[in-house]
Amino acid sequence: MEQLKQKIRSEGIVLSDKVLKVDAFLNHQIDPHLMQQIGHEFARRFRDAGITRIVTIEASGIAPAVMAGLELGVPVIFARKHQSLTLNDNLLTASVYSFTKQVESTIAISTQHLSSADRVLIIDDFLANGKAAQGLIEIIRKAGASIAGLGIVIEKSFQAGRRELENAGYRVESLARVQALRDGQVFFID
Ligand code: G4P
Ligand code: NA
Ligand code: NA
Repeated sequence: MEQLKQKIRSEGIVLSDKVLKVDAFLNHQIDPHLMQQIGHEFARRFRDAGITRIVTIEASGIAPAVMAGLELGVPVIFARKHQSLTLNDNLLTASVYSFTKQVESTIAISTQHLSSADRVLIIDDFLANGKAAQGLIEIIRKAGASIAGLGIVIEKSFQAGRRELENAGYRVESLARVQALRDGQVFFID
């Protein structure tokens, strides 16, 4: 997606050969117009996939997921990472290991919002090692729902996430595919 790649080139900051900072439009400040275009593009790619629900994970997946949900006309569920006063019964959970933080955490979705009749599109801001995505898949499968695929805003193709998801048979649609981060520059695939 060209507008997204331009935004990454102009406002992204290469923190290291592994980490791209995009706090200017995705992870802290949000660019609503770009997010709307992102939602439109996800909807275009998954329009005929029979989606009934979008599932993402708080916090940064929510903005692109909501825009896609608006375009597709379906509800958006975000998995919670923290315990909540009101979210307490009938939880579907998965354990997710973060390579960056080197901690294991639990993510949860209430059974209330997901059923075996659902066909789910998973959306997230980043795909790196894919552990968050795999946790979401585990929860969705526990609900008995089917998975149409994953929509990713920025994929770091040099990490294992995409390959593992594709090997498991999932469709992965990434709007920007980063081949490498080198000398302060972002190199994209195609
Ligand atoms: P993963 O590769 O298995 O998905 O997990 P990892 O532990 O690497 O990622 C943990 C967090 O860091 C996730 O956000 C993920 O989106 C984010 N992340 C991974 N690589 C990058 C990167 O190069 N740049 C940026 N900006 N983020 C990256 P999170 O902690 O869940 O935070 P949030 O959703 O609340 O923003
Ligand atoms: Na993130
Ligand atoms: Na995320």
